[in-house]
Amino acid sequence: MSLAEEIRALAAEGLRAFQDAKHEAGLEEARVRYLGRKGKLRGLAKRLREIDPSERAEAGRALNEVKNQLEGAFHKKKKEIPLGPLTGGREERPEDLSIPGKRPRLGHVHPVTRTIREMVAVFERLGFSVAEGPEVETEWHNFTALNIPAEHPSHDPFDTFYVEGGRVLRSHTSPVQVRVMQKTPPPVRLIGPGRVYRPDKVDATHYHTFHQLEGLAVEEGISFADLKACLTMFAKGVFGEDVRTRFRPSFFPFTEPSAEVDISCIFCRGEGCRVCKETGWIEILGCGMVHPAVFEHVGYDAERYTGFAFGMGVERVAMLKWGIPDIRLFVSAEKGNDVRFLRQF
Ligand code: PHE
Repeated sequence: MSLAEEIRALAAEGLRAFQDAKHEAGLEEARVRYLGRKGKLRGLAKRLREIDPSERAEAGRALNEVKNQLEGAFHKKKKEIPLGPLTGGREERPEDLSIPGKRPRLGHVHPVTRTIREMVAVFERLGFSVAEGPEVETEWHNFTALNIPAEHPSHDPFDTFYVEGGRVLRSHTSPVQVRVMQKTPPPVRLIGPGRVYRPDKVDATHYHTFHQLEGLAVEEGISFADLKACLTMFAKGVFGEDVRTRFRPSFFPFTEPSAEVDISCIFCRGEGCRVCKETGWIEILGCGMVHPAVFEHVGYDAERYTGFAFGMGVERVAMLKWGIPDIRLFVSAEKGNDVRFLRQF
């Protein structure tokens, strides 16, 4: 059969298919099969190039004729055909009760709340319970009781928001430990998640309002080894079992000795990448053994008890955990309040 003949034969086949279509969906299927971009007619058209030039004119003519014929038949049929069951042809067919209904969209827990819940769950398994404190604090709770001297730079108004009446918006969650120790005798084992405020310049990793999670454990005989074990279990619980931790000496007025804790980079597994600045490690928290001066301020016997404390940024944990590039996505700020972001959690 020459190509021209094949094309004409296809016309008969296609016309029958359009004729036999019983509803819109079937007709559309037939259109795709014969006239679609990957349809049969296109398939034959592609062969025009391969055939002997002497046959090409005839085949080309056949192609145009058949195309017009099939398109005409398709449009004609389309006007007469009943709507299929899925397109709501109510006059022809009863309603289709098997069509799934529209599901209402469920609300979502905010990613910061979700992160706090996950962190709290890990610490609860280690025997910690949740404590809360006010966001508007006295200077005594925010600084003095934590052994932060008046001349310490964080007293500077640039690092803490002052409000009327000489109070401050707490600049960390550490005052929560002070309040709990003031009213509870040892032993205590608490975590304090909450909102904190700092007049930082806003950028991708800083926002004036964010969340921290504080921890405190005070008992007889608590050691730095307990602190290490606890925080290593925390890191594995939140970031995965194969995460390693590293403790680096640091300084906080309210702990001695103090340390900063790094986790092995969860993006490159410690090999070095852009996120960990090629070091293989990412800093996640500050910690240390509670300074005896803090115990004295809250009336604990510093000779008898020891304890450890730690504090970390919740948004930072969330950003690492889910690879979120900008802290402003969490809030109704310039870039935030976007449900497309929030719906992912
Ligand atoms: N409060 C410290 C901060 O905001 C974190 C911290 C808490 C460090 C407890 C040591 C012990 O940076």
